[in-house]
Amino acid sequence: MTELAALFHTHIADRQRTTAEAMAQTSFEALVISSGKVYTHFADDQDAPFHPTPHFAHWCPMSGPHHVLVVRPGQRPKLIRYAPEDFWYEQSPLGNPFWAADFDLEEVGTAEEVWKRLGTLSHAAYIGNEMDRAEAAGLDLNPALLTAHLDWHRTTKSAYEVLCIEEATVIAAKGHGAARHAFLAGASELEIHHAYVQAAGIVDHEMPYGSIVALNEKGAILHYEGKRTLRKGQVLLIDAGAQVRGYAADITRTLAAPTCDSRFSALIAGMEKIELQLCDMVKPKLPYGDLHHQGHLLIAGLLQESGILNVAPEEAVEHGLSRPFFPHGLGHHLGIQVHDVAGRQGTPEGTPAPPPPQHPTLRTTRTIDADQVFTVEPGLYFIPMLLRPFRENEHKAKFDWKLIDELTPCGGIRIEDNLLVTPNGHRNLTRPHLPH
Ligand code: GLY
Ligand code: MN
Ligand code: MN
Repeated sequence: MTELAALFHTHIADRQRTTAEAMAQTSFEALVISSGKVYTHFADDQDAPFHPTPHFAHWCPMSGPHHVLVVRPGQRPKLIRYAPEDFWYEQSPLGNPFWAADFDLEEVGTAEEVWKRLGTLSHAAYIGNEMDRAEAAGLDLNPALLTAHLDWHRTTKSAYEVLCIEEATVIAAKGHGAARHAFLAGASELEIHHAYVQAAGIVDHEMPYGSIVALNEKGAILHYEGKRTLRKGQVLLIDAGAQVRGYAADITRTLAAPTCDSRFSALIAGMEKIELQLCDMVKPKLPYGDLHHQGHLLIAGLLQESGILNVAPEEAVEHGLSRPFFPHGLGHHLGIQVHDVAGRQGTPEGTPAPPPPQHPTLRTTRTIDADQVFTVEPGLYFIPMLLRPFRENEHKAKFDWKLIDELTPCGGIRIEDNLLVTPNGHRNLTRPHLPH
């Protein structure tokens, strides 16, 4: 058995255990998960790029729609593979993938036949989007309590999952290296994006999210999607990842050209230090919200040091003065979904754990625990619409508006690494492959 197959075997044993626990809590005797049906755009014959049901991807890295997995406690999982004959789209033979030995595998040519092979199931739950078929089979559709249990367990990553994320990181790091080179040579957003995907060896729909390649002021648009042809930027904010066997890396770097305003370059250097300081704090038992709060204090300190704010960090954070500069959460769980599930789940049963009112955009309110993987991604941006109210309110004298206006064309800064929590601390999955 290869190392990958051995890790996968343990991953499936984990899935058997956690799914059996979840089913025992919810009185189901069987769980059917389908990889799902494709989404066809309204009034069109074009399909969206296919994304498998994440709960299916958690069990099996096989791509494509209509496959069905049947899980019963104490039994080997049964995988019914949809393998049509087709001349419109390529259908690759399964071959002998490393994961196949962990399933009782059947192969059929139509989706109807896939569902016939299920046989009769009682007290069975269904997760997926093939509602009509699942309803006709008498399954309980996407039960919330069972799904909450499964999502909860998805935040604890197996060694197999960590390896997938690390392999995705290696690919993304190649892209980031090429993007840096292209930016420093004066390339446009479009050319930098092309340099990234070429070096990573992927096409756009293989990325876990659309790349954010922002020159100058566009860095202040958090999910900027444009790809302008303007060349010779002063600042590049690039947030781009890669995917391996369904698992994502999510990495951001901000770079200054030698001609960039030195006050902004100093802010980038300050944010690099802050990001590493925040990563250093990661260890089990720390509430993620506390780390986010520390992020605000450190960023408020940098804003004071650089003269943008003239108040101490504690006062700045207390009055929400760091929030227009850092309006998003410090990070999120990472896995099959880039913004992975259950970050705001308080218990396995799904009790909501909403973010505190002063940090409404925080995506994880969980307590940090071993084997979680999440991002740490502090940001500092000059976003005119968020700063505008402060120009007129009771805090206006605490800001250096001239300096803010001079730095606004530089956009923003975000630095993002992916961390695995270990029993006593953490392992940064990104820096070994992308040190800067
Ligand atoms: N790439 C989106 C994010 O960092 O959350
Ligand atoms: Mn992220
Ligand atoms: Mn990102």
